[in-house]
Amino acid sequence: MAKTETRWICQECGWSFIKEMGKCPHCSAWDSLKEMVVRDELPAMSVGGRVGSDSPHPTPLSQVDMAGHTRIPVANGEFARVLGGGLVPGSIVLIGGEPGIGKSTLLLQIAAVLGDAQHPVLYVSGEESPGQLKRRAARLEILGDTIQVLAETNVDFVLQQADRLPTLQALIVDSIQTTHTGDLNSAAGSVSQVRECASRFQRWAKRRNIPVFLVGHVTKSGLIAGPKVLEHIVDTVLYLEGDPFHTYRLLRSIKNRFGATSEVGVFEMCENGLIEVENPSESFLAERMVNVAGSAIAVTMEGTRPLLVEIQGLANTTSFANPRRTVNGLEFNRLLLVVAVLSRRVGLRISDQDIFANVVGGLQIEEPAADLAVAAALASSVRDRPVAADLALVGEIGLSGELRSVGRLEARLKEAARLGFQTVVVPRNLRREKLRTPAGLNVVAVRTVSEALEVALT
Ligand code: TYD
Ligand code: MG
Repeated sequence: MAKTETRWICQECGWSFIKEMGKCPHCSAWDSLKEMVVRDELPAMSVGGRVGSDSPHPTPLSQVDMAGHTRIPVANGEFARVLGGGLVPGSIVLIGGEPGIGKSTLLLQIAAVLGDAQHPVLYVSGEESPGQLKRRAARLEILGDTIQVLAETNVDFVLQQADRLPTLQALIVDSIQTTHTGDLNSAAGSVSQVRECASRFQRWAKRRNIPVFLVGHVTKSGLIAGPKVLEHIVDTVLYLEGDPFHTYRLLRSIKNRFGATSEVGVFEMCENGLIEVENPSESFLAERMVNVAGSAIAVTMEGTRPLLVEIQGLANTTSFANPRRTVNGLEFNRLLLVVAVLSRRVGLRISDQDIFANVVGGLQIEEPAADLAVAAALASSVRDRPVAADLALVGEIGLSGELRSVGRLEARLKEAARLGFQTVVVPRNLRREKLRTPAGLNVVAVRTVSEALEVALT
């Protein structure tokens, strides 16, 4: 018999404690601890300290069987890329994202390409009625012969129904916040419900060896219990991100037990769903105006994929006591650093200017390797001189105005060459490693931001 016991779980951060407290010692929230039943499911073998004959025993790694890990192919290149090549049977994949970003759309499209006549996909919808789903499917031109729809929120009933489908290809739960179990008193969407339901789905996935997708909403404030408290339960965590005012959507892998993390798939939201963008750099540069001051091209890495993006900078003499700095798609503190370096190390007159920096296409760049392009875009705006149209820049800026080397330079150079760029300004490699540069590409290695700007602003 499984032993039952209770724990006090913080509804804000998910930390668990043995006794009740007024304030969570982990996240300092008040009145956030709720009592919860946790089943203790230690296998019987550990109780008496004796190991049964069917319990796992050490096996040489060379003889471990990989049979359970043949992947189910996914006929959606960008999605398969993020998963690390295909879907692992019995794995559990969490897809997080803000409401309205396109999670249901994406999963309906994936359901359509995953299933076939013999192997349907079960789409459990707790948010939308089957009628609404049908309307979306019609818009996406999905016939839906291979998709079974179930409007149910009780996790145990869902799994009962799923067990009636012996040849199920995959189970999709939209969303985990709407599912609940009668064994807990708390409301659907609370940390305890979300956790318990997710672990029931996980046990089911392992038992039936069928992949499960869970949709989880996140809000900017992170208030709704969701992706954060589930990250350690699931095998793979994907986030669908994007600026709601732009059409590009990035599917990013945050955790993946079966592939590389920080891999990125790029989609575009159109009238008939999310279309794969196979050549993101080309798309991001499509609307670019050449030979205009205040624009520079950065080569950033999204996972293992190099991406060319346009960075725009605008400097304008301020009419306020404190000049403003506004940033879109970049980290605010990185912009402040770049501005400070331009002012102190390059001697640009920028401290009395309102400054705007923007990444075109609604992309969010976290990589410091884009620093140099930000500096070039701003310097270009201040001096009112355009950056050469066929020139890209790569490099992290240090506080002394020096350029620091960045990872995967060769991949970046290759992508720039592929898109027809003639010159790339890069940090000088002080370790003097041999760099293979693509034929026909002029790679200019420089030490400082000032040198880079001399090359870039002709
Ligand atoms: P949805 O998948 O419902 O988002 P989520 O499940 O993450 O909450 O996507 C909703 C948005 O996507 C909605 O604003 C409309 C837009 N959309 C399109 O632009 N084209 C389409 O073909 C579909 C189905 C949705
Ligand atoms: Mg939805």
